[in-house]
Amino acid sequence: MDLFPRAQKSYIPVYKPFHIDVDKGKGVYLYDKDGTCYLDFLAGIAVNALGYQHPAINEAILKQVKRNLHLSNYFVQDVQVDLAERLLALTPFSKLFFTNSGTEAIEGLLKLVKKWGNEHNKKEIIAFSGSFHGRSLGALSITMQEKHQKHFLPLLPNIIEVPFDDTAAFEAAINENTLAVFYEGITGEGGVRPVSRFMLEAMKAGRDQYGYLLIADEIQTGVGRTGSFYYYEQTGLIPDAIATAKGLGGGLPLGAFLVNEKLQDVFLSGQHGTTYGGNPLACATGLATVEIISQKLFLDRIQQKGSYFKGLLYELANDFSDIVSDVRGEGLMLGVEVRNNALDIMDTAFKNGLLFNIAGGNTLRFIPPLIIEQSDIDTAYEKIRLTFKSLFR
Ligand SMILES: Cc1ncc(COP(=O)(O)O)c(C=O)c1O
Repeated sequence: MDLFPRAQKSYIPVYKPFHIDVDKGKGVYLYDKDGTCYLDFLAGIAVNALGYQHPAINEAILKQVKRNLHLSNYFVQDVQVDLAERLLALTPFSKLFFTNSGTEAIEGLLKLVKKWGNEHNKKEIIAFSGSFHGRSLGALSITMQEKHQKHFLPLLPNIIEVPFDDTAAFEAAINENTLAVFYEGITGEGGVRPVSRFMLEAMKAGRDQYGYLLIADEIQTGVGRTGSFYYYEQTGLIPDAIATAKGLGGGLPLGAFLVNEKLQDVFLSGQHGTTYGGNPLACATGLATVEIISQKLFLDRIQQKGSYFKGLLYELANDFSDIVSDVRGEGLMLGVEVRNNALDIMDTAFKNGLLFNIAGGNTLRFIPPLIIEQSDIDTAYEKIRLTFKSLFR
């Protein structure tokens, strides 16, 4: 029996998968069982930062498999400590906690922030319209999208929604009772929208005035995706904590939250925990990934490749100005907003051998493996143009 009816019969129907029976991935390509290949600008939703079958990842897996696959946090583990030290050395943060996913990192931060708020008599958490922080009840409470929240109300209390990038509304919303502001420097699922410099300045000034916490969700923007190891490095605004995941594990489930000295002692023994978080196999691939991506040369190349790709997308916007309304993003996290037909464009590009998905309703989102070459970008662009021509000209 074909794979798709079997999946349909077995799975709770929350996903709409591409109709491709994947056999394997290699580099920046996915191959189906008939040998058809697809250029992958989705990369496991920004997870496969080093593509498929990267030698450093494979080597890390083989080495760790011969040692142990899981120990639990009843043990101090060398690969985990190595990765923790590496991440803290790359950032201004002083301590971290490992998780299995981005959502779990956000959940942990919500708990930590709430405890800090109880100790400082602050209650209100600000989140922005169009944000996406995960689908568990806590993370969903700060995911300000009606379509995600409406069936699951009531959610956490004391969450204040501020329209995205509306500085005046933000300034009106903050006060002595503001506990924390959760934000994505560039929204991911919300449609690749960077927060403006004015808003970043307002968030910083508000923190100086009211002493709230700034919590950056770097789950999608982090680990080199935007051309710096974390995106906040480009914004001039150092948050009090970040959540990181996706590319961090190099293909295995791994996340973390990193906090500054103000927050490092909030949780006491037993007040938080996880069974799998910081799993040694995931930390081994994480360490291999971070070692490669954190190199200045590698990050510079992401910026160069991103600028090159963005230039081509501007050309597309120019040639199809009736279809394209905006081009946004940094590094290799780029979005092309279209006036309509986003799903048709995605489906036709898929038939032309290029994989990407839609974010924020009408934005084509490109989040390829960070190892792509300029020639891969040229191939992707040819397929995008071919798609636009066949649909619109
Ligand atoms: C910005 C952001 N935050 C949180 C999450 C949730 O992460 P995960 O799916 O690993 O739980 C995502 C996932 O897409 C994300 O893009």
